[in-house]
Amino acid sequence: MSLKTDEIIGHVGDVLAEGQKKRGVLIHAFQKIQQEHNYLPETELRKLAENLSIPLSDVYSTATFYKQFYFTPRGRKIIRVCTGTACHVRGASKVLDKIKDEFRIEEGETTRDLAMTLETVGCIGCCGLAPVATINEDIVGEIDMKKVGEVIEEIKK
Ligand code: FES
Repeated sequence: MSLKTDEIIGHVGDVLAEGQKKRGVLIHAFQKIQQEHNYLPETELRKLAENLSIPLSDVYSTATFYKQFYFTPRGRKIIRVCTGTACHVRGASKVLDKIKDEFRIEEGETTRDLAMTLETVGCIGCCGLAPVATINEDIVGEIDMKKVGEVIEEIKK
């Protein structure tokens, strides 16, 4: 007996809906885990896969699809130096180099004591305040060497 077109479409719809539901549950779980640990530890992802009876590879492929999830420990402070055009022209690379030198880390890395993660970001829409960096949710505009020094002191506290 062959399936009618409506039945086939209905079945495909069910499969898609099921997939979306799973993804929704996973994303919610990732957010919770990341809130607690600041990243997604492998042990937590294994537990999640087990609890939801989903292959670990599916858990990882969903998590890696989204840029908001991290797989290595992150710093308590996330410093993002804007390297967009306006910030670049107004000395963002000096700011970046100063922080790198001070903490001996590169972009994308975290200090050993987990005090800070250093990242770069494209334009964040505050070009009038260039060069700009963010510390967690706070924006630091017109960041010169003096302000970088203050930021560094703040992180070292
Ligand atoms: S280029 Fe840095 S805020 Fe626009």
